[in-house]
Amino acid sequence: MVYEAFSRKYRPKTFSEVIGQDYVVKTLKNAIKLSRISHAYIFAGSRGIGKTTIARIFTKALNCRSPLDFEPCNQCENCLEIEKGSFPDMYEIDAASNRGIDDIRSIRDNVNYSPIKGGYKVYIIDEAHMLTKEAFNALLKTLEEPPPRNIFILATTESYKIPDTIKSRCQIFLFKPPTKPQIKQYLKRILESESVEYEEEALELLVEEAEGGMRDFASLLDQIVTFSEGKLTKKTVEEILGIIPEKYVKHILFAIKKMKLEEGVKTLELLETEGYDINVLWKQLTDKLYQELIEISLKGKGEIFSQEEEKKLIYILSIFNRAATESRNFQNPKNVYQLYLLKLRYLEYIKPIEELLSVGTYKESKPHKVDSVEEYSKVESHQEPIKPVEEIYRSLKREPVLANLLTKFEVEIRPDLVVFRAKEVEAGEYFQEKKSVIENILGKSIEIVIPKEKPQQKRSGKRDESVDRILELFPGSKIVKYENRED
Ligand SMILES: Nc1ncnc2c1ncn2[C@@H]1O[C@H](COP(=O)(O)OP(=O)(O)O)[C@@H](O)[C@H]1O
Ligand SMILES: [Mg+2]
Ligand SMILES: [Zn+2]
Repeated sequence: MVYEAFSRKYRPKTFSEVIGQDYVVKTLKNAIKLSRISHAYIFAGSRGIGKTTIARIFTKALNCRSPLDFEPCNQCENCLEIEKGSFPDMYEIDAASNRGIDDIRSIRDNVNYSPIKGGYKVYIIDEAHMLTKEAFNALLKTLEEPPPRNIFILATTESYKIPDTIKSRCQIFLFKPPTKPQIKQYLKRILESESVEYEEEALELLVEEAEGGMRDFASLLDQIVTFSEGKLTKKTVEEILGIIPEKYVKHILFAIKKMKLEEGVKTLELLETEGYDINVLWKQLTDKLYQELIEISLKGKGEIFSQEEEKKLIYILSIFNRAATESRNFQNPKNVYQLYLLKLRYLEYIKPIEELLSVGTYKESKPHKVDSVEEYSKVESHQEPIKPVEEIYRSLKREPVLANLLTKFEVEIRPDLVVFRAKEVEAGEYFQEKKSVIENILGKSIEIVIPKEKPQQKRSGKRDESVDRILELFPGSKIVKYENRED
């Protein structure tokens, strides 16, 4: 048996098999029905969404020897030849490789002869925007005096590159990207015709998570079905798309909810060992947190977090977004993520969120998802005129520990020197240790003044084991403030 890729094997052969593109299909069928066939069409839209497919069906419908209800029969000689690509009155030109004027010239000569076999000669010019200026001019001449029984179909992914002079002589169809239900319908058609066993959940996940046109989905399905030996399971979809199984995502979020942060840290470690991309994990965690937030606002509770935890959730999200931004500057983003996870421990005692956000520049009224460094700076740019301390805060925000500690200092800016007067010994010592780092960030010399007396520790007593573990995890780290809390 000859192996045929799904995308080719399941190319629709009739208008009614085409999924979506209703407007295009209906207009072309009506054109045949009413004998109002334009001599030039532009099929514009992204890759793999049916441009070539519909161009071929149209060619068949125009040349079929026994059409039924304006659909091709797919059995007569003409239909079969068009299907094979050997029909003498159909020309498929790839403008990406034949950009030359010669091809268009030969078309110009060709148009003067009548069709050999059928009713119409059809020229399908793929990637038409790639034609050279000269080729477009030659084409324009042809379109200006349209020869009868010749039809041009210009397929393009970049219609704005097609000259207006050409466009004004064509009927233009904008092909729409398939919707998720349409993709699902298409994949289901393949799965069922192939008698491939599938889990509904796996199909959902695939449609939800992957991107692209129908062709991309068909290829992906091909790959998954081959990989999993003729089955479509959720597990293989996750594996092929590199998605982290949802149970881990939930596990980590439940751990955060219960403030069992070491558990989160451990799970990150484990997933990395298993070969998962931790950046993908972080994105999934963030997406899930957003979803929780939306569910809370719509239904009063999410799957993991409750209404009462909404504020906390917003705070966690802002921390997660920061971690994502910061991780880009590091070789091993996992360490950054782990550090930020652990930072959540101080979430409740450092500051209420409003206060934290107003210290610096991070002004948000609603959670804002930050996807790129550019966007990050956009978020940051709605702000008041910069006051000196805020300027310092701004510079230090890449190292959030430093930025957060800033409240424990009085800052004095001199022409060539910034003086940090610590209110607490530990904060001062921490800054002292990072002196050269801070100078680098600020581009100025700094002086750190540390108070003589250590303030009395309020409570002594046994300290939480997890603190030791954090210290172990981050060599060189110090306890800046410690409170023993009962759960
Ligand atoms: N609207 C559609 N309905 C059903 N299948 C489609 C559709 N669009 C694309 N396909 C599938 O994707 C494959 C590639 O489509 P094609 O028409 O060649 O895309 P392009 O828009 O790049 O010309 C087809 O063989 C078919 O299997
Ligand atoms: Mg195509
Ligand atoms: Zn036919």
